[in-house]
Amino acid sequence: MATPITVEADWNEAPDLLEGAMRLSLTPEDCDLDYWIKNAAQGTWRGLVNGHAPGDAVPPCMFEEGPLRSAVLEEFSFRAIAEELATRAISYLVAHAPDIPTMEFYSTQLLDEARHARVFRLHLTELGVPEDELPETMEALAGAQRDAVLRPLEAFALPVMSDPADFVGGVVILTVLVEGVLAPTGALSERKWRIFDPAGSGIARGANIDEIRHLCVGGAIVRRHLAAHPEDKGRINSLIAEGRRLWNDLPVADVVYSRETRFQRGIESHGRMLGDYELIPGRRLADTTPEERLSIAQEWSREVQGSRLAYMGLEGTL
Ligand SMILES: [Fe+2]
Ligand SMILES: [Fe+2]
Repeated sequence: MATPITVEADWNEAPDLLEGAMRLSLTPEDCDLDYWIKNAAQGTWRGLVNGHAPGDAVPPCMFEEGPLRSAVLEEFSFRAIAEELATRAISYLVAHAPDIPTMEFYSTQLLDEARHARVFRLHLTELGVPEDELPETMEALAGAQRDAVLRPLEAFALPVMSDPADFVGGVVILTVLVEGVLAPTGALSERKWRIFDPAGSGIARGANIDEIRHLCVGGAIVRRHLAAHPEDKGRINSLIAEGRRLWNDLPVADVVYSRETRFQRGIESHGRMLGDYELIPGRRLADTTPEERLSIAQEWSREVQGSRLAYMGLEGTL
């Protein structure tokens, strides 16, 4: 008989990313290599095909040339590139982790992000992009967004993450400024593709389950550090403020808005498929607008960040 896995890693039972990230408490000791092998590798992902349940199909509408198809191709190309950059950056946290549980945890997070990059990328092949055309396709669809958003973020993050003397600064950048900001977009993706592209939504769900662990453990590391070194609080707050200024200067809202505009044109052509499916309780996806979806994600972002910062002992930073 298979070993029971913990609720937060169970495909069917895991909480929504936002709820999990705000309510659960997980430490590096809770999420060591053994936990990851049993609960993620042999748990969450058991039986999945390219990161989604085998029964999750890609419906015919996704193969029709048009805004819906171009929205999914662009979104998954961008996310695959972002996950690849995150994987490479996390190698510094593995190298500089101060103890074994933390080193084991970041080794698992590194593989989680490499897996995300892989399943997002291979979803493009499920959508009919030939495997040998993936690099050019991704470059054409998301290369400009990578240069406009991800490269400047990387230029800010890598000098801190690669500094052996500032492990906690690297964790803050990854947890608060990268994953904390992007998590709501992942939650939105899982919900908005559920009917149009169940395979893509399933892939997003798997990544979101991993993300609960990343946000919780990263938060626990910072919380513990600040409890032991309260004198570091001012410096960490300045780092967060600097990262926020950078986010405000990057054209992130433009990228998300243009993605949502294309999705909207997809709703206009295929909205009947959505029926009464609700994006959030009481709100049919078919009735939402790009502005509304953007503001839902921004609201989630504020909530998640507020609750995580308070948990870390950094309330008042927002
Ligand atoms: Fe990821
Ligand atoms: Fe992550």
